[in-house]
Amino acid sequence: MHEHHSALGLAAAHSGTVSGAAAIAKLRPAQPVTLLRPHAARRAARFFVEKFPGKPMYAVKANPSPDLLQVLWEGGVTHFDVASIAEVRLVARTLPEATLCFMHPVKAEEAIAEAYFTHGVRTFSLDTVEELEKIVRATHGARDLTLCVRLRVSSDHSKLSLASKFGVEAAEAAPVLMAARQAADALGICFHVGSQAMTPAAYTQAMERVRAAIVEAGVTVDVVDVGGGFPSVYPGMEPPPLEAYFAAIHEAFESLPVSYSAELWCEPGRALCAEYASLLVRVEKRRGEELYINDGAYGALFDAAHVGWRFPTDLIRDGGSDAKDMAFSFYGPTCDDMDRMAGPFMLPADIAAGDYIEIGMLGAYGCAMRTGFNGFTAGEAVIVEDEPMASLYRGTMEQPVSSNVITL
Ligand SMILES: Cc1ncc(COP(=O)(O)O)c(C=O)c1O
Repeated sequence: MHEHHSALGLAAAHSGTVSGAAAIAKLRPAQPVTLLRPHAARRAARFFVEKFPGKPMYAVKANPSPDLLQVLWEGGVTHFDVASIAEVRLVARTLPEATLCFMHPVKAEEAIAEAYFTHGVRTFSLDTVEELEKIVRATHGARDLTLCVRLRVSSDHSKLSLASKFGVEAAEAAPVLMAARQAADALGICFHVGSQAMTPAAYTQAMERVRAAIVEAGVTVDVVDVGGGFPSVYPGMEPPPLEAYFAAIHEAFESLPVSYSAELWCEPGRALCAEYASLLVRVEKRRGEELYINDGAYGALFDAAHVGWRFPTDLIRDGGSDAKDMAFSFYGPTCDDMDRMAGPFMLPADIAAGDYIEIGMLGAYGCAMRTGFNGFTAGEAVIVEDEPMASLYRGTMEQPVSSNVITL
């Protein structure tokens, strides 16, 4: 792990971790600094491992940092949803004992072959008979597979739709389900309700489509994988407790016509890592209600720019501010007009160039989306000990639990 930012002098100033954003802002970093909270990711992992009524696997795309993968493993996550051969190699290298599931429904045949023969991947998803044929060819007709047929379900309850690109309609799924059943030892059904699902009803409604598909095809199903979509908490988006999602999923699963020994899986991305990272940025210029900051749409703020996502913000200034909060928008550091985050981001009215801002909840689809466009690359990453700016898990996991790591 990057424990210190050598350029910031943190190694000299602190042994191990630092308390929070204020300690780093004192060093006046000229580049954005990523603040990592492994304790928050570990807590999220333990929450899912202990409370989800089945097997959680981490959707690596949300944040592929090897440090994070290690933290989740230590928190008890043993299964990982990978969507590209690069993710397969990354997780195989980082966590050689992990179980990988290749859950992208459209894969290169070469990727399937490498995943199967080199990395021991046995679970693949698909949504057409053509993809099934690819998997059969690439694995030389292997039977020791779990093939998960992806159903199309509604994204109506989610903030980011995943309803268009993948998935076979329940009414048309029978031929795919029957062919997959015959091709492999184990058959699964998976779906994705869209990211940041704001109500458990998203899952119960999707489970009704699973039921319809099973009844229509008359197949025995060994795995039901409810995918990702579990929410985190952001300004203006406060979901019900995750336990309510788990209870609804459990109840729906129990009533499905699946084999007695059928397994329930899920693929959380956002919910496991949103709290893992925040960002400390500097205001380089103020123009009225617009703040020019040193990270943006091509950095960790892709969602803030492109889907209008709002993230929590805090002024980090010695002595704070007595001014009332007002609404600001942000411009990022590149020369591109599109490098704009509309917000509104609530910050004290006297904020000025030279001030620092902590932007929270960027562990999922924030750090992972960063590019080096226009020469503005990532600054350093520092581990901090304080709580994330918002949390769905705070106070939920006080009891120590077992992990995958055995201390001798
Ligand atoms: C197949 C699959 N599983 C899981 C996820 C993770 O979703 P989320 O971050 O909403 O939990 C995604 C996200 O795109 C996905 O495509």
